[in-house]
Amino acid sequence: MKTLLVGYAAKDLFETLKHGKTRTASWLTPDVTCHCLDIYNRHAIEKVHHAKAICSAHLPEGPWDEIRFRTGPKLMSGELSLDILQEIHALAPDAPIWGGKGKTNVVVDFVGKERDRNDLISKIKDDPDRVRSFASTWEASVPEGKPVTFTSFPGCFCHRRMDEGGLALAEVALQRTGDPEASDTVHGGCRVLDMGCGCGLVGLLMASVRPAISLVMVDSHSRAVEAAALNAKNQGVEAEVILSDSGTPARMDGTFDVFVGNPPYYSDYRIAEVFLETAKRALKPGGQCFTVCKNAAGLEPVQKRYFPEVEVIKRRGYAVLKSIC
Ligand SMILES: C[S@@+](CC[C@H](N)C(=O)[O-])C[C@H]1O[C@@H](n2cnc3c(N)ncnc32)[C@H](O)[C@@H]1O
Repeated sequence: MKTLLVGYAAKDLFETLKHGKTRTASWLTPDVTCHCLDIYNRHAIEKVHHAKAICSAHLPEGPWDEIRFRTGPKLMSGELSLDILQEIHALAPDAPIWGGKGKTNVVVDFVGKERDRNDLISKIKDDPDRVRSFASTWEASVPEGKPVTFTSFPGCFCHRRMDEGGLALAEVALQRTGDPEASDTVHGGCRVLDMGCGCGLVGLLMASVRPAISLVMVDSHSRAVEAAALNAKNQGVEAEVILSDSGTPARMDGTFDVFVGNPPYYSDYRIAEVFLETAKRALKPGGQCFTVCKNAAGLEPVQKRYFPEVEVIKRRGYAVLKSIC
């Protein structure tokens, strides 16, 4: 039976044996494909369970005998949940879950209240022809640059609004690399790496002031990569956009003049370390590394493990940390 699992993390794919030990669930057979929005999850499922996993911004075409969707308010936003459920409906419009007689069995494995699960399914069942768009479009700008229009999708960081930390990072990176007299000015042809680019906020704001920069953007989330590529195209910027949870490929080592990164901090700086490791190997000697966080006290000692000196620049209630490679 060809099964598609949607929204499952590696930790959800264990079963507990009688004596309390856990092992990979026996139902996770080679016929099961795990869909992930973030490539980190795909790698974790492959590594821990040796299971088939794919990472893409949208669900893969079937045919599927069964689609199981794990969701709930603690796992993802309501918008993302409904957006994915719409995609499942498009793959299996006649499934019994919506009252049809089709062969594909759709199961919503809802972590939360039964009433909320039923409300979610009713949104499709009660109005099956309605396809809602959850894309959001908004503008952001930096001094000297024209306003840039960004589109983001559910699942992207900061969907529907601009992150002030990202804006602070773009402003400081532009200011600190913009002195025409300085040897470290961001010049035409200068290579900029925006890691954890989200929808492209930082890199594309930098390109709005310095259109000649050569921009590479990296994110582990497939929908962030989709949004960043779309925003670059709409802005007429020829950027390379890479889906990766381990930074840039080795062929790019030592080729960048500037690194900008607004890492997530939900992991005790583990992800920030992946960002800094990437900055260290991706930058040329003399290249500049800028990171941003709410409070420098936590990140500064981590950044010092990679770069000898860290300057803290306060902006918009955030701390931008600058180092030279
Ligand atoms: C705080 S958001 C910043 C987004 C954007 N740069 C901004 O400033 O609005 C962090 C981003 O890092 C991405 N991310 C998390 N882990 C990552 C990893 N290992 N490699 C690359 N990107 C990662 C997330 O998907 C998210 O888009």
